[in-house]
Amino acid sequence: MANTIVVGAQWGDEAKGKIVDFLAADADIVVRYNGGNNAGHTVVVGGETYKLHLIPCGILYPDTICIIGDGQVVDPGVLVGEMDDLTSRGASIEGLKISLNAHVIMPYHRLLDGLEERRKGGKAIGTTNRGIGPAYADKASRIGIRVAELIDPDRFRARLAENLALKNDILTKVYEVPALSFDDILNEYLGYAEKIRPYVANTNYIVHEGIMAGKDVLFEGAQGTLLDIDYGTYPYVTSSHVVAGGACLGTGVGPMGIDRVIGIGKSYTTRVGAGVFPTEQINKVGEYIREKGHEYGTTTGRARRCGWLDAVALRYTVMVNGLSELALTLLDVLGGLDTLKICRAYICNGEETDKLPGDWEAVNDCTPIYDELPGWTEDISTIRDFDDLPANAKAYVRRVEELIGVPVSIISVGPHREDTIIRD
Ligand code: GDP
Ligand code: IMO
Ligand code: MG
Repeated sequence: MANTIVVGAQWGDEAKGKIVDFLAADADIVVRYNGGNNAGHTVVVGGETYKLHLIPCGILYPDTICIIGDGQVVDPGVLVGEMDDLTSRGASIEGLKISLNAHVIMPYHRLLDGLEERRKGGKAIGTTNRGIGPAYADKASRIGIRVAELIDPDRFRARLAENLALKNDILTKVYEVPALSFDDILNEYLGYAEKIRPYVANTNYIVHEGIMAGKDVLFEGAQGTLLDIDYGTYPYVTSSHVVAGGACLGTGVGPMGIDRVIGIGKSYTTRVGAGVFPTEQINKVGEYIREKGHEYGTTTGRARRCGWLDAVALRYTVMVNGLSELALTLLDVLGGLDTLKICRAYICNGEETDKLPGDWEAVNDCTPIYDELPGWTEDISTIRDFDDLPANAKAYVRRVEELIGVPVSIISVGPHREDTIIRD
């Protein structure tokens, strides 16, 4: 394997967890580079289902080093819960490392996430309410608290005092809700610090020295490109660098350290939360996909909005990530539909275009133009060789490749590690 970025190619939940777990069989190090416990990555191994929110999906391989990277925001209570859950189920967390630089999600971040959403009313983003946006905002404002400070009680006490004075002013004077207790937060967080301290490390050097030693590093992205703070459907996005470039920013590795960039794309499209979604199907097709694909959020349990594959959006994703290939996932879910549609272009301002308009507001006024392809009825979940797929499924995959301009190198036909087709 080479040093490989795995990046979500749509609006998240593309089965990055499954593909990272599959590829991690050949990795020495898996490092997550962005987001926090807004992510929910599902891995199914040996009949057991694991839902990981902060810890990289390589953790189920006992000898793999798994790093919570600099670019992540860490809710330490959630992290400790995830560590305990893994160990109670017999998984080893010996290889877990947590970056000194990752920022800490505090109780006021979670509270403000909800309050800011409520203030937005009809323009609410539909966040996961995990404090992600407020934590990244503090990082950019240079008042965030990092893991290095969390594990040093004196520094943590001082940083908490500074921050809580400001946050309590905002809570009480702007939002008119009760202030948070300094002592409660201090005691709770010092408890978490004790548990995570043994795993905290200077992770930049671990990744860098691994690469220099010829080890294989997998960079695990969270969310999807269209939720990226710069390249997504702003303001209906998350607050981190989701795109492949975020792997460099969030781990301290230069672009020359990367060999391969795999986009993970569903065979259709889903989105959780508000914002544009040109190919959304609020009808029987959308319901069919939601029920067959179990399209309910891994983190919040919300029903995911479902629709056809959008090749205009995917082509954009190929471009902004420099994708070398696509892993096409959940292909089995499309089985049983008579006709499948792929959006190949939009009509915007009366003109046909295969590009996104640049201003996301304008996408609301664009109409998708669809290619129609015949479906298949066979269950494909046990197929392991591309040639054995029904002819219509092969034609669907080939049409996707033509439309997006990069090969589909991996096809996922089920949630289990082994439900995977590798193409030559
Ligand atoms: P992630 O956030 O990108 O890791 O994706 P999620 O784990 O949130 O959502 C993907 C869902 O699809 C999970 O429930 C997976 O177990 C499931 N899954 C993954 N690959 C496949 C597949 O090829 N077919 C089917 N039917 N389910 C899959
Ligand atoms: P994974 O890694 C799908 C969405 C939220 C909301 C927006 C902002 O499992 O693919 P945030 O809480 O980040 O401020 O919410 O982003 N969102 C996701 N949607 N999968 C995710 O992660 C997501 N993480 C955030 O629903 O629309
Ligand atoms: Mg998910």
